[in-house]
Amino acid sequence: MGEERDENRILGTEELQMNRRQFTARALAAAAGVALSGRQSRGATPASGNQVPGSVPEALIKEARFPEGFLWGVATASYQNEGAWNEDGKGESIWDRFSHTPGKVRGGVTGDVACDQYHRYAEDIALAQSLHVKSYRFSISWPRIQPTGTGAANMKGLDHYSRFVDALLAAGIRPWCTLYHWDLPQALEDRGGWPNRDLAGYFAEYAGVLAKHLGDRITMWAPFNMPWAIAFMGYAAGTFPPCRTSFPDFLKAAHTLGLAQGEAHRALKAASSEASVGSAYEMAPAYPRTNSEADRAASARYHAMNNVFFLEAAMKGRYPNAFAGEPPYETMGLKPGDEKILLAPLDWVGFHYYTRRVVSDASNAHCFGGGFSGTEIESDSGCARDPYTGIRATMPTEGPLTESGLEVWPRGIYDLVTQISREYDHPIIEITESGCGYLDGPNEEEQGRVPDGRRIQWYRQTLAELARAIADGARVRAFHAWTLLDNFQWAEGYTERYGLIYTDFRNQKRTIKESGSWYGRVAASNRLDL
Ligand code: FCB
Repeated sequence: MGEERDENRILGTEELQMNRRQFTARALAAAAGVALSGRQSRGATPASGNQVPGSVPEALIKEARFPEGFLWGVATASYQNEGAWNEDGKGESIWDRFSHTPGKVRGGVTGDVACDQYHRYAEDIALAQSLHVKSYRFSISWPRIQPTGTGAANMKGLDHYSRFVDALLAAGIRPWCTLYHWDLPQALEDRGGWPNRDLAGYFAEYAGVLAKHLGDRITMWAPFNMPWAIAFMGYAAGTFPPCRTSFPDFLKAAHTLGLAQGEAHRALKAASSEASVGSAYEMAPAYPRTNSEADRAASARYHAMNNVFFLEAAMKGRYPNAFAGEPPYETMGLKPGDEKILLAPLDWVGFHYYTRRVVSDASNAHCFGGGFSGTEIESDSGCARDPYTGIRATMPTEGPLTESGLEVWPRGIYDLVTQISREYDHPIIEITESGCGYLDGPNEEEQGRVPDGRRIQWYRQTLAELARAIADGARVRAFHAWTLLDNFQWAEGYTERYGLIYTDFRNQKRTIKESGSWYGRVAASNRLDL
C-alpha cells in the first residue's frame, strides 16, 4: 500500500472496541447520511466535511464503468444453503456435529434445512438468471461425495451436483466450484483432521473424483474457501469446528492445507484438461496502527499470514515469512521436498473482500488468544493473536458498521486489488465474495418489498472502488456478491442476512430485495449510477 497509507495514525481503543448497539447506531446514522461529528478520515479517499469516513464521492460512482463481458456473479456454500443434511447417503460433516452440539450456534439453530436448496435449486438458479447473473460460485459438500472422506464415490451425491450444474448451464450461467467450504467429513476429523498430513492425499482423491465426473461441464475450480480461517478458527481460536485451541495444530493444519491445495490442483488438471484452477482466499488490506517500524513489520506479517500465505505457496512453492521469530517449520511438519508439492501456480487469483484490518506489533506480548467475536472478526483482546506471528489485528470502527458488525470501508478493495496485482505480476483476479449483512425484511406497508438501501449503498461504493482499480490496470474479470439469498451464517445462525434475496425461513419463500433488483440492473449495464 506504500505511500498511500495513513501516516502516524493512532486509533484509540474506544474507536477499536464498540459494542453491537454502537455498531448498529453508527450504521443507521451512516445510512441516513448523517455526518459523524468530529470524525475525519485521514485515509487516501478524501472525506469532505459532511462525508462519512471511508465513503466514496458520488462523482466516482457516476463515472464507474465495468468492461464489456465482465462476469457478474453470486457466491453460496453447501452447508449454508443446501439443508438435506442426511439425505441420499450423505455422511456427517464437522458442521453437522457442531450445530447439533448445544451452545455452539447462536439461537441453537442448525443447517439441517437452511435454504433447502438441495431441493429448491431450480428455483434459485432461475432467480439468479432473472438478476442477469453470469457466474455462480457454489461449493460441493465432500461428505455427499465420500460420506467418510475416502473410498468409493456416492453416485447420488454426484448426480445431485450434475443436475445442479446442468441447470446453471441451461440458464447461461458459468458454474464455479469450490471443493471445500468448511464441511469436512466428520470421519476425517476423527482421524486427526487437517493437522493430519494424510488429509492432503484424501483431498486430492476427492478432487480427482469431482473432476472426472463433472469436469466436462465445470471448468472453474478452487480447492479451499478461506484456508487460513479453516486452520485458525478451527484449530487455534476454536470458535469453528472442530473447536480445538492448539497453536501447533493450527500450524500443522495450515501446512496440510497448503499441500492439499497443490495436490488437488494437479488432480483436477489430471482428470480434466479443461480445468482452470484458482482460489477463494479471504483477504483484508492491512494498515499499520502507527507508522513505527514495528507496526509496519507486523502489518506485513498479517498480509503474509492472512492474505497471501497460500497464494505464495502455490505460486512460488514456499511460504512467505509471516512469523515474528524463526519460522516454525518443524512444528508445521515441513519435510524436505515439500516445496515441490506446494508449487502449483494458479491460473487466476480469487479472493474475498469484506473489510480491512489495523495491525500492531505484539511480538513482546505475554498473553495469546484471538479475541474473536462473531465469526472470523477479530476484536481487540489486548493480546497477541498467537505466539508465532506476534500481531494484534483489529477491525477499526472509523467508518460506519454493517449490522453484522463489519466496518464499511470501500477504499479497502482498491488497496487490496492493486496490491495483489503489483505483488503477483498482474494476475487475472476474480472477487470470490464481497457483501454486507443488514437485516432488512419485507415491509408490509409496501406490499412486501424489501427496501435495503444500505446494502445498495454498500455495493455502489465498493464496486466504484473496484472499477477504479480496473481503470488503473488491475485485471479483474469477475465479482461474486455474497450472497444470492439469506442463509445459515455459521456460528451466527440465522441472525445475519447477507442475501440479495430475502429468505423467509418459516416457509422458504424467497423475495428479491431492492438490492437484488439493483444488482441485476448493474449486471445488465456494467454501470452503477442506476
Ligand atoms: C465469509 C464466508 C462465507 C460467509 C461470509 C459472510 O467469511 O466465506 O461463507 O459466511 O463470510
